[in-house]
Amino acid sequence: MNVDLVVVGSGFFGLTVARQCAEDLGKKVLVIDRRHHIGGNAYSEAEPETGIEVHRYGAHLFHTSNERVWEYCNRYTKFTDYVHRVFSIYQGEVFPLPVSLATINQYFRKALSPTEARALVAEQAGEIDTATAENFEDKAISLIGRPLYEAFFRGYTAKQWQTDPRELPGATVTRLPVRYTYDNRYFNDTYEGLPVDGYTAWLERLADHPNIEVRLETDFFDASQEVSKTNVLGNVPVIYTGPVDTYFDNAEGELSWRTLDFEQEVLPVGDFQGTSVMNYAEEGVPYTRIHEFRHFHPERDYPNDKTVIMREFSRFATSGDEPYYPVNTAEDRRKLLAYRDLAKQEKGVLFGGRLGTYKYLDMHMAIGAALSMVDNKLTPHFRDGAAFT
Ligand code: FDA
Repeated sequence: MNVDLVVVGSGFFGLTVARQCAEDLGKKVLVIDRRHHIGGNAYSEAEPETGIEVHRYGAHLFHTSNERVWEYCNRYTKFTDYVHRVFSIYQGEVFPLPVSLATINQYFRKALSPTEARALVAEQAGEIDTATAENFEDKAISLIGRPLYEAFFRGYTAKQWQTDPRELPGATVTRLPVRYTYDNRYFNDTYEGLPVDGYTAWLERLADHPNIEVRLETDFFDASQEVSKTNVLGNVPVIYTGPVDTYFDNAEGELSWRTLDFEQEVLPVGDFQGTSVMNYAEEGVPYTRIHEFRHFHPERDYPNDKTVIMREFSRFATSGDEPYYPVNTAEDRRKLLAYRDLAKQEKGVLFGGRLGTYKYLDMHMAIGAALSMVDNKLTPHFRDGAAFT
């Protein structure tokens, strides 16, 4: 195998590392992925009947305040001026999220000023002392009061975690976003937008370099493949972005994840819900939200008699499911520390990305972490002969 580096996983983390090593360090990089496509969870594709771009693994909105990451991403894609906004249906009424002055005034049928709204929320939150709140529900009520909690957080949280919020630890909620203005932009970041010609085109340009080869449908743990753990380890340095527990054969036990199920449908209407994401806050509705993909790209020429929607359902992952969000129980954190020790001792392999570090990372965070790994580990190794650890 005539390469300088093997990267396991072609998500944003793996491809950013590969591109930097290929371009700046002049190294030959082989990227493998077990899926049939590149891009990891950011992959998107055109729904065949309508041509509408669908985010295969859940809606992906790009946003960042990191100047370096923004400049880096702009080398490979242009961004639209899309601004993300989310709404929530509760008891037959639509409210803007995150909870803002608009949400509060609509919910309480009032015209409160910011000061009056703060005072009302503080009074309602006074029902429970934050310091003594032990479970999720009590903690949330101690922060925003019972009415807003019950309308916008209780049912949604229960569905997300398949658990009564009174059974969830209070420590998982440190703050709940409430804005005392009418600003209903979902993200607070300096930069925001969607890739003009889609995520996959962006990811393909990132991978498109004469020093990079990508092999799909290649599982690092399949010893019958030329590029597998058994055949590569000790011969070529590896960047591994798959699940850290799988790498070590679950020696310390499996880390727990939540997964999502998606139900996609093409509907014979030009517009189903008038916006890209509608949350369903009530427990009686089995899904947590509905995405309508055409609204991510109002600038595109999509058919006006058809639309694509995707209902999202949340549940705990079992083996074989796609791991999406780390559950991060105390037991998971204990296992993770043990895996980190094993990873440190593993010669010739660096672990990165959301699966390799068991951390929820937004795309800009995965890209930023990959750039840091190149600066701090790979450049010293390839330029100055520093150890690969
Ligand atoms: P990623 O999971 O993308 O890539 C890892 C790759 O490794 C996968 O392609 C996998 O197939 C491969 N792999 C694993 N094991 C392997 C093996 N044994 N052999 C070969 N290949 C293997 N972010 C954001 O900024 N805005 C957003 O709106 C969202 N929305 C969002 C929704 C949902 C539902 C999720 C789960 C995540 C998001 N994200 C997000 C986060 C975003 O998906 C994340 O930042 C990137 O996927 C991280 O890229 P990685 O390369 O770390 O992992």
